Formats: sequence, C-alpha cells, structure tokens
Amino acid sequence: MDLRWLMFYLASAGCVSAAENCSYKALIEHLGLDNSDVQMTSLRPVHNWTTPTFVFMNLLVTSITEVDEKAQSISTQITVIIGWFSEFTKWNPDDFCGMNFSSIKKDMVWIPDINIIESIKTEFATIENQHVQLRNEGIVLTSNTLALTSACKMDLHKFPFDAQSCNFTLQSPIHTSKELLINPFSDASFLTLSSKKAFQTQGEWELVNINISKSQVNTLGQEQDQLIYTITIKRRPLLYVIIFMMPVFYFLVLDVASFFIDSSGGEKLSFKVTLLLSISVLLLLLKDMLPSTASNIPLIGIYCVVIFALMGISLLETIFVNFLMAKGNQTVSVAAMESTSVLSETVKDTKGPSDSVADSNEERPYTLDVLKQILMEFQAFAHQNQQERKPLCWTRVATIIDVIFFFLYVTTVIVFLISLFKGWFP
Ligand SMILES: *[C@@H]1O[C@H](CO)[C@@H](O)[C@H](O)[C@H]1NC(C)=O
Ligand SMILES: *[C@@H]1O[C@H](CO)[C@@H](O)[C@H](O)[C@H]1NC(C)=O
Ligand SMILES: *[C@@H]1O[C@H](CO)[C@@H](O)[C@H](O)[C@H]1NC(C)=O
Ligand SMILES: *[C@@H]1O[C@H](CO)[C@@H](O)[C@H](O)[C@H]1NC(C)=O
Ligand SMILES: *[C@@H]1O[C@H](CO)[C@@H](O)[C@H](O)[C@H]1NC(C)=O
Repeated sequence: MDLRWLMFYLASAGCVSAAENCSYKALIEHLGLDNSDVQMTSLRPVHNWTTPTFVFMNLLVTSITEVDEKAQSISTQITVIIGWFSEFTKWNPDDFCGMNFSSIKKDMVWIPDINIIESIKTEFATIENQHVQLRNEGIVLTSNTLALTSACKMDLHKFPFDAQSCNFTLQSPIHTSKELLINPFSDASFLTLSSKKAFQTQGEWELVNINISKSQVNTLGQEQDQLIYTITIKRRPLLYVIIFMMPVFYFLVLDVASFFIDSSGGEKLSFKVTLLLSISVLLLLLKDMLPSTASNIPLIGIYCVVIFALMGISLLETIFVNFLMAKGNQTVSVAAMESTSVLSETVKDTKGPSDSVADSNEERPYTLDVLKQILMEFQAFAHQNQQERKPLCWTRVATIIDVIFFFLYVTTVIVFLISLFKGWFP
C-alpha cells in the first residue's frame, strides 16, 4: 500500500514537474530572460568580453521596385535574415520536454546593430517583426523584410543595354571586428537561386546575380567587419528599342531612301526637313530618359546626335545640289534662247546674201559672202558651245556630287552603326 502511494506520488510529481518544464514560461524563467535585465537585453551575450560574437546573415532580394538613374538610387525589397550566437540562451532540450526552439519578444535579448551603409531610406516593407527565435544551441535568429532605397552608382554608357551592380554593405556602426564577426550564412549561388525564386516583380529590371564579398574597414581607428552583397541587375531593353531606337533608325533609312526622290522639285527638300523635325521630337524623349550628369556620354546619345548630324548634313547637301540644278536650268534656258536667236540670225544672213548672189551673179562678193557666212557660222557654233557647256557643267557637277555624297553617306552610316553595335555588344 505505502509503496503504491509512493509510486503514485512520484509519478504525479514527475508529471507536474514535466508539465512545468514543457511550457515556454519555464524556459524563460530558466534562462532568466526579462526585458528589464540589462545583462540580457543590452550587453553582448558573452561571458568573457574578449570573445567575439559571430553574426550570420542572409540577404535576399525579392523585388526591384524602382531604379532611378537621375538620382542614382535603387529601391528594392529585401529580406534580411540575421543570426548570432548567444552564450546566455543555451539549454538542454531534454530538461524541457524536448523543446529545442522558442520564440520570444525581441526586446528581451540583445540584438546586433547592423546597418546597410548605402541606405538612403529604410522602412519595414511588412509589419516589423517583433520576435526572435531562440535555439537550444545558443543561436538567436530574426528576419525582416525591408523596403530599401539605396545609393547605387550607375554607369549608363551602354543604355539601354546596360547592367548595373549595386552594393549592399552590411556593417555595424559601432562594433569593431573584435566584437562582431559578420559572415554570410548561405553561399552566393544559393542566394541568387532563392532570390530569383522569390522574385515578385517582372519589371524593367532582371536580377542576374548576387555576389558576396567580405572586407574590413578602418573607421573608428579600429577594424570593422563588412559584408558586401553585390547585386547585378540587367535592364530589359525592348521598350527603349521599340519606342526610341527603331524610329530613329527608320528615319535614317528614310533619309537614305530620299536620295532616290527626283531632286528637280522641292519635295525632296521638304521630305528631309520633315524627317529632321521628327527626329528632334524623339530627342526630347531622350532628355527624360537619361540623367544630365553622366560622366561619359552614353552610346545612345552618340547614336542620336550622329544620326541627327548626318541627316542635317544630307539636308545641306540637298540644298546645295538643288541650288546647282537651279543654276543649271537657268543658264540652259538663257542659252537655249540665245542660241535659237543666233541661229535665226544666221539663217536670215545666209538667206539675204544668197538672194543677192542669185540676183547680182557677181563672183567676188559671192565668195566674200560665203566666207563671211562660214565665219559667222563658226562664231555662232563656238558661241553656242560656250553657252551650252555651262548648263551641262552645273547639272553634271550636281549629279556627281549627289552620287559621291550618297555613297559616302551610306558608307558612313554603315560604319557608324557597326561600331556602335560593337560598343553595345562587345
Ligand atoms: C577571457 O579570454 C581570454 C582570451 O580568450 C583568456 O585569456 C582569459 O583567460 C579569459 N578570461 C576568463 C575569465 O575566462
Ligand atoms: C525542469 O527544469 C529544471 C531546470 O530548470 C531541471 O533541473 C529539471 O530536471 C527539469 N525537469 C524535467 C522533468 O526535465
Ligand atoms: C528540434 O528537434 C527536432 C527533433 O529532435 C528536430 O527534428 C528539429 O529539427 C529541431 N529543431 C531545431 C530548430 O533545432
Ligand atoms: C562594391 O563592392 C565591390 C566588392 O567589394 C567593390 O569592388 C566595389 O568597388 C564596390 N562598389 C562601390 C560602388 O562601392
Ligand atoms: C563574385 O565574386 C567573386 C569573388 O568575390 C569573383 O571572383 C566573381 O567573379 C564574382 N562574380 C560575379 C558574377 O561578379
């Protein structure tokens, strides 16, 4: 009887104590966690101050909301997972019903102060995470999703076929590398893969790669640990190609084609002026797309300016050729009038004396008249030739200039486009 009672008592006592240790409260009381305890909440969780605290981080990029080329900033949504070792929050799961992790309010424990150096503005993208997770081996974990606007130096030389690299440098503002050692938790390829999986937006920019590097800086007279995440993003250029580069190219093709318009009328000139005006409207678009502070001129700027200049030069050439043609036509009509009058005079002259010859039948005057007539005809012929060479000259010069210019123009355009293409896609 006594033995049974004893066994019952022991069993119930065991039950009660086990039930007590199965609760979170028991664990928290065991660990001595209390948000008014300075040791737990404010001090680095090490027994010996010379021991550094190991911090592990993961940074996932889940969307790119805006890339501002003018302000040289990038807005992203990132998930930062941060874990560290705490010597004060270890326990044996066997003592607590096998409980090997527990969540508590984050103000009960010390949290490392790690910032993103490039940040211009950081907000919580979702509601701020109020909890940390404790693991029985002494690891503390927390994670937050942030809406981050950070500075990023962009090189727009190859716009719109450009890729940009932006750094997110994680560093403690105050702790030295003797206190905090910051290390990546996962490797770069895993982060790239999981970021791509979690990517929520399919906007203008595509995430290409996330790379991790570690470095140390000397800021407070002591070394500080830095963990640098370099994200590489690539622009999807289709929109710019369709709304900007193709139209400019079409205008250039039309300009080349306009050499085949008959240049006698004014249509060729007005057509080219229209093309030049259309391209200058497109140039206004470019102004909105590119920042004015780019250190080296973007290739797209060269593309526009050179095409604009080429079309301007071809317009000037058309004006010049038209001028030569007009001059030629003018002299042709004058010469035509003069030569016809000369001819009619000679005809009159030849008729006059022959009549008199027939009438008088005198030998000497007849030969004299014939000589005179031949002389006059020669003179007239020479005169006529002289007058006719000029208009022929002008028109021919204009045609030759036009043809030579056309070939030069086409060659320049082809060479220019090829070299630009090589610049864009080396
Ligand atoms: C603290 O750590 C240092 C170096 O690791 C060691 O020399 C020292 O004995 C430790 N002090 C205590 C009290 O454990
Ligand atoms: C309950 O936890 C205490 C330490 O807080 C431990 O000594 C005791 O063995 C635990 N009880 C059980 C049943 O695990
Ligand atoms: C806790 O223990 C269980 C069983 O031992 C294990 O499957 C689980 O992964 C552990 N969890 C953590 C966070 O360590
Ligand atoms: C980004 O980080 C890399 C690797 O440390 C470094 O080489 C590069 O200069 C950094 N870029 C900027 C803009 O700070
Ligand atoms: C990533 O970083 C490593 C070294 O830190 C470097 O060798 C590698 O080229 C980088 N990869 C890319 C794609 O930038």
